[in-house]
Amino acid sequence: MERFSESVTLERDGDIAVVAIDNPPVNALSHHVRSGLLAAMQHLDGSDAIAGVLICGGRTFSAGADITEFGREMEGAPIEAVQAAMENCSKPIVAAIHGTALGGGLEVALCAHHRVAVAGARFGLPEVSLGLLPGAGGTQRLPRVTGVATALDMVTSGTPIGAEEALGCGLIDTLVDDLQAGAVGYAREAVGRGLPLTRIRDRSDRLDEAGPDLFAAKRAEVARRKRGFLAPEFNIQCIEAAVSLDFEAGLARERELFMDLAGGIQARAQQYYFFAERAAAKIPDLPAGTTTHDIARGGVVGAGTMGGGIAMNFANAGIPVTVVERDENSLDRGLAVVRKNYERSASRGRLSRGDVERRMGLITGSLDRVDLADADIVIEAVFENMDLKKSVFADLDTICKPTAVLATNTSALDVNAIAAATGRPGSVIGMHFFSPANVMRLLEVVRGDATSHATIASAMAVGKKVGKIPVLVGVCDGFVGNRILMVRQLEADRLVLEGATPAQVDQVVYDFGFPMGPFAMRDLAGLDIGWDEAASSGETVRDLLCESGRRGQKNGRGFYIYDPDTRAPSPDPEVIEIIREHAERQGVESREISDQEILDRCLLPMVNEGAKILDEGIASRGSDIDVIYVNGYGWPLYRGGPMFWADSIGLDQVAASVEAYGARLDGSHWELSPLLQRLADQGGALHRFAN
Ligand code: CAA
Ligand code: NAI
Repeated sequence: MERFSESVTLERDGDIAVVAIDNPPVNALSHHVRSGLLAAMQHLDGSDAIAGVLICGGRTFSAGADITEFGREMEGAPIEAVQAAMENCSKPIVAAIHGTALGGGLEVALCAHHRVAVAGARFGLPEVSLGLLPGAGGTQRLPRVTGVATALDMVTSGTPIGAEEALGCGLIDTLVDDLQAGAVGYAREAVGRGLPLTRIRDRSDRLDEAGPDLFAAKRAEVARRKRGFLAPEFNIQCIEAAVSLDFEAGLARERELFMDLAGGIQARAQQYYFFAERAAAKIPDLPAGTTTHDIARGGVVGAGTMGGGIAMNFANAGIPVTVVERDENSLDRGLAVVRKNYERSASRGRLSRGDVERRMGLITGSLDRVDLADADIVIEAVFENMDLKKSVFADLDTICKPTAVLATNTSALDVNAIAAATGRPGSVIGMHFFSPANVMRLLEVVRGDATSHATIASAMAVGKKVGKIPVLVGVCDGFVGNRILMVRQLEADRLVLEGATPAQVDQVVYDFGFPMGPFAMRDLAGLDIGWDEAASSGETVRDLLCESGRRGQKNGRGFYIYDPDTRAPSPDPEVIEIIREHAERQGVESREISDQEILDRCLLPMVNEGAKILDEGIASRGSDIDVIYVNGYGWPLYRGGPMFWADSIGLDQVAASVEAYGARLDGSHWELSPLLQRLADQGGALHRFAN
């Protein structure tokens, strides 16, 4: 065996040279991988081997460029030199792919003369998700081998395709059972049959498959689905260049567009977010070796809006789950909603009939909590009422096995008080799912004062297992997400009293990149959530709207009027009138409010509150707050999250603005966070702050 760098070796398998990359965990193309590969390929070319195989160790082929090297000074051989050494090698090179060939990994594989893969392999150019485009010829080579439509889909979605699809579109030559033996056999066969040493760059036979409307249709799709993101459009332009320019000119265009994107704030935000999400899974104070309880069976109490969705998460992950309700009617209704949801997915082709039945088969309804005795985790999702929750937990304490995790889905109640209703507060934790619970990926895992390490580790692990992005937070009013949202809501309400309209506020927040503004969001959630009809006395605009029969989207009237057919909102002059009259009664003068003021007053208090949350130790890291906001509240990913966004503006400017607004507006949310002040003074960053 010859070694060309710490991660690249070459070994002979008879007359075939097998070049292997071993750079755990995902064989990223770090500088030593590139330098080693270049040397190994040059060696192969000059050796008496008849062909070469490129294979990777561990769980995957290659996850592409080493993202940790981005923004640093370039070390080692450039990727293009490695690619040229492969393409121009005088012997055929076969890339042997398992796991995932992503980004630069696939771009390297596209420079082999042949590609073989095992059945589970996946192939993708996910750079768009990092705010980038494949910068190593991927956009020029991929359409030449897969055809233009597939390549366009792959670069704009970033979603990998499976091995069967890759075979169908020509991305790989064949599937093999044993990766190395199959690749070596294929290499010998290529030599034996005298297959030409075709370089993908020289092909153009699939480039004329693009219909005239292909690019326009893709642009319309990304404008809808990726509003505000720059990278999809840049990727489209690269594929257009592949079709309209020769290879070298296309490559130059790809490079130019790559440089434009790579230096921008969106790319920085999206790459930061990639690591932020992974960091959220790591709990700083969890001792190594903390026990994680195996979750073989789940339990849910309450089959309402949240309970049903939570049960679906377990069934979707193949984990049997028992759902306990208080009466037959509620149980039947809850399970019927679950079935309806699955059937809707089946009718849209996302699930097979068999899947629907399999998943329903994993959910067992019950009216007796004793049936939760063998559950490894029970998630309570009954009404938001402390006495009720306490009685449920006291009961679970007597029923559940000693190692069971006892979780509450409360959105606002004190997890410590709920835990105190049991004799085992160490086993109690909050698992705050977001609605719809089967869709939304955010999960706030709320640790109480007594919650044990094993309970935390188990709740985080089960969250991941059921497809969520769990983020650990502490107990406070609203936890992290809703506490920060409350201050935005407060200011949005004030802004309309002062003269802005709900539509103006919503437009500003929408233009910033949120999927909808605060008033549209309240209409969607239902204006009467948490509204008490008996106690309502017209104290707030919300009270007045509810009292006038407006419940939001569900009855077609809220802050907006909704078209009964299309659900399209339009401003309601009567609502504006209600707001104005209320403002007059409150003595609030009406004035023109600029869009900038609206943006500042909606977003700056969120940053300030986030800093207070960090100061109080309720969140472990600034990046955790960003993960919560991007996943649960629609903060635009290309702005990184509220903490990253504030840092990108400059904390000194943020602090000065908070103080300036605070001088004329009251409310504790305008009191500048000491941490924000300190970081601003020291040139620190909220998104890098860790407790
Ligand atoms: N560079 C550096 N580190 C990477 C990495 C990369 N490309 N991809 C993953 N990692 C790290 C992760 O940060 C994580 O590290 P920790 O264990 O320290 O947290 C570790 O590898 C394992 O990653 P995951 O937890 O994500 O493991 P997984 O099995 O769930 O997923 C994966 C594996 C599908 C490869 C996923 O990590 C992934 O999607 N990676 C990113 C792939 C990507 O976007 N590649 C394109 C890079 S840009 C490029 O290649 C083109 C160019 O030239 C500009
Ligand atoms: P819901 O009213 O839709 O469902 C509650 C269910 O609990 C009902 O089906 C009811 O029959 C059942 N239930 C009541 N008492 C019971 C008992 N003693 N035993 C068994 N079942 C009982 O309420 P929803 O919206 O699902 O909320 C549940 C919990 O989730 C609440 O704590 C809420 O704050 C929280 N939550 C709600 C969110 C939402 O958007 N709806 C979001 C996040 C958390």
